[in-house]
Amino acid sequence: MANRKQLGLAIVGCGVVGRIRGALAKDFPGIGWIGLADINERLGRQLKEDIGADFFTTDFNELIARPEVDAVIVATSTWSHVEPTLAAADAGHMMMIEKPLATDARESAQVLAAIEAAGVDAVVGYTQRFRRRFLVVKERIRTGQIGDVTAAVTRAFMNRMAPTGEVRLTQDRRFLTPMVVSGTHSLDMCLWLMGDAARPVSIFARSTEKVMSELGTKDATFGVFTMEDGAIWSMNICWALPREWPGAVYGLEIGIVGTKGVIDIEDTHRDVILATEMPQGPAYNPDGLTIDVERNVDFLTSFPPGDVHGGELWGPMREETNTWFQRIYNKKETPHATAAEGHRNLMLTMAMDLSAKTGRELELPISPEALMAGLEA
Ligand SMILES: NC(=O)c1ccc[n+]([C@@H]2O[C@H](COP(=O)([O-])OP(=O)(O)OC[C@H]3O[C@@H](n4cnc5c(N)ncnc54)[C@H](O)[C@@H]3O)[C@@H](O)[C@H]2O)c1
Repeated sequence: MANRKQLGLAIVGCGVVGRIRGALAKDFPGIGWIGLADINERLGRQLKEDIGADFFTTDFNELIARPEVDAVIVATSTWSHVEPTLAAADAGHMMMIEKPLATDARESAQVLAAIEAAGVDAVVGYTQRFRRRFLVVKERIRTGQIGDVTAAVTRAFMNRMAPTGEVRLTQDRRFLTPMVVSGTHSLDMCLWLMGDAARPVSIFARSTEKVMSELGTKDATFGVFTMEDGAIWSMNICWALPREWPGAVYGLEIGIVGTKGVIDIEDTHRDVILATEMPQGPAYNPDGLTIDVERNVDFLTSFPPGDVHGGELWGPMREETNTWFQRIYNKKETPHATAAEGHRNLMLTMAMDLSAKTGRELELPISPEALMAGLEA
């Protein structure tokens, strides 16, 4: 173990997530150099000062080309992961990329191909995999304790404050749908829990848009996947819950039935409730977002990355990030989603959107080109 080289880490995107991961990197002994990039110079320079980073630039290409860099975190806005990821793959760096891998299925396929051609270790930020409750479920299903999965149901409910924050920096919101942006987390979770036998061969979905159309997106998408072995899975998300809803961000329910048992997961965060005369604001507070809301009841722990105590974030994103540092430093096997899984997730979330758009059941797999042609038609 002696004389092991400390790693150089580049973080592209210094917003909410880049800041969380950067603060953890500062404390990881195996990281000896941190460089930052963001097109928002004020935000990036502030993070540099706060974590004592070594370098900042507004040009991610300049950062990724630095000789100190061994690994890259791509934490740019949801629709701008592709260019920095391709640059990092080209440079042969290990990567952690925020979800979704891309917002265009053809670009996602291009990113995956570049990662595979470069032979680099790249993971995607499906943070909820790092929670004890989901890890134990994964283990129980993997070891056969509910037999073969026959039917599963997922219900994700989100406060509309979250998508309001998500779309604020762009006007091109065609593919910033509930499934692509947020349902991807619960879709990844369910497919990961169900394991390799869960191979979708068709999807039938419906969407509705009433209140979220003013933001250029949809309210909800509900769908049913059929698997190769005949199992069925109902995947549902609505991200249009009112601002006053006590769950500040994400609430989830998952039921998975097998031939020998069942696992029922309640993850709506109704187990830790605050009621107060003091008004509670949004849990997700990115730069430039103001949401006028007064909430007096709060389901605590509903912000997926975790919660702040003593000025630091505690929870799944801490576990995920520190475990990734162990992965890149010690070459440890970890439960992170691979780039291939990230690509699969984008394909399936977009397939739900296409089925909803056409009103027809869609056979899977589908090519990225056919998917995008249908969505762009
Ligand atoms: N895993 C999770 O639980 C979780 C939670 C929230 C967000 N996310 C994902 O993390 C990513 C970042 O989200 P966020 O909440 O930090 O958003 P944010 O808006 O706070 O930060 C994104 C930053 O990226 C910068 N940026 C955009 N394009 C850039 C470019 N080309 N070069 C350099 N900088 C660029 C923006 O200026 C902004 O500062 C998104 O993909 C989001 O979907 C994941």
